[in-house]
Amino acid sequence: MKDDFDIERARKDTRGCDRVVHFNNAGSSLMPAPVADALKEFLHQEEMTGGYETVEQNQQQLNNFYRATAALLNCETAEVAFVENATRAWDMAFYSFRFNPGDRVLTTVEEYGSNVIAYNQQVKRCGIELTFIDSDAHGQVDINALKDQIDDRVKLISMTHIPTGGGLINPAAAVGQVANEAGIPFLLDSCQGVGQVALDVSKLGCDMLCGTGRKYLRGPRGTGLLYVKKSMIEKLEPPFLDQHAATLVSPDEYVIRNDAGRFENWEQYFAGKAALGVAMDYAMSFGMPAIQKRVCTLARGLREKLTAIDGVTVTDRGLALGGIVTFMAEQQSASQIKQLLSGHGINVSVSDGSGNLVAFNQRGLTSVVRASLHYYNTESEVDFFTETLRKIL
Ligand SMILES: Cc1ncc(COP(=O)(O)O)c(C=O)c1O
Repeated sequence: MKDDFDIERARKDTRGCDRVVHFNNAGSSLMPAPVADALKEFLHQEEMTGGYETVEQNQQQLNNFYRATAALLNCETAEVAFVENATRAWDMAFYSFRFNPGDRVLTTVEEYGSNVIAYNQQVKRCGIELTFIDSDAHGQVDINALKDQIDDRVKLISMTHIPTGGGLINPAAAVGQVANEAGIPFLLDSCQGVGQVALDVSKLGCDMLCGTGRKYLRGPRGTGLLYVKKSMIEKLEPPFLDQHAATLVSPDEYVIRNDAGRFENWEQYFAGKAALGVAMDYAMSFGMPAIQKRVCTLARGLREKLTAIDGVTVTDRGLALGGIVTFMAEQQSASQIKQLLSGHGINVSVSDGSGNLVAFNQRGLTSVVRASLHYYNTESEVDFFTETLRKIL
């Protein structure tokens, strides 16, 4: 691959590269050294000086989380909340809506499993109507089918940007445009998008966006983020409130914050928050367009090589494809392949179960191997991967 990406720096900073070929970045990436060191340093300070005191002494580092997220997403710091993972971030947005019987929610067949569970809970509890928009011939959300479903009962359009079990990058900005033109709030689950692709909430047209720390952002586990557009914040009353989200002004009165802090907890994983800010700064030091280009190019190379192996079927669909590469083989099951690759020092995961259930059911897929690449992976790792897979099969 001929580009000016500083792969030497990326590898040097990724200490785990010496031990494993890590193609499980959509699960949890290898933290780069500056991120892991910041996390350890924060915890060490907590150990030596006390948790509350460490927070007081590191205000700037903690505030950096908001500054870095705002820079990454092109939004304001007051529109950002620190949450423990993408699911809770998404929940805080979704469960803030007060649905009435007959209200409609539009999503897509590629929706993430936990989100589908939440919709169905609201179907049972509030009588909302849930519609899955089908994919078009390329495998991405069908924008015309989405437009056809718009009516004045639609209260929310909610979509997964990059599904957990395939290479697809859904055309989020086109969906945002439909939502904005119809005046319908748009919730985007970009859990696999943050850190993988360049995101600009004003171009995406989303009112709310969730992300996680441990995947493509290469931050610590147990960290996540929520963006809520300024004009939406005061319209959304979070399902849980505490003394950080609101102020108790008398025994029976409280005032909810008017920034995205209303979606946060008082008690937080402060070490993780500080380190996630470092992770975002680290990503931006390479530049998101450069990261996106490298991830997509590496993954395209892997797909081409996999297609040439007898018995292997690449299962990714979509006009735009990212760093997640999924496949099946006639010779071995997905879980056998994962286990055998692990014996050769290669990490992958298996996509099955509820993560991508609606699309998988529709396509007759039950279980696929998921090899998810990041910018610090190399073409020689891709070659080693495909050679090893050939031998295994
Ligand atoms: C598309 C998508 N959304 C949400 C999640 C959940 O993220 P978290 O585990 O951080 O809650 C995942 C995790 O794989 C995902 O792929």
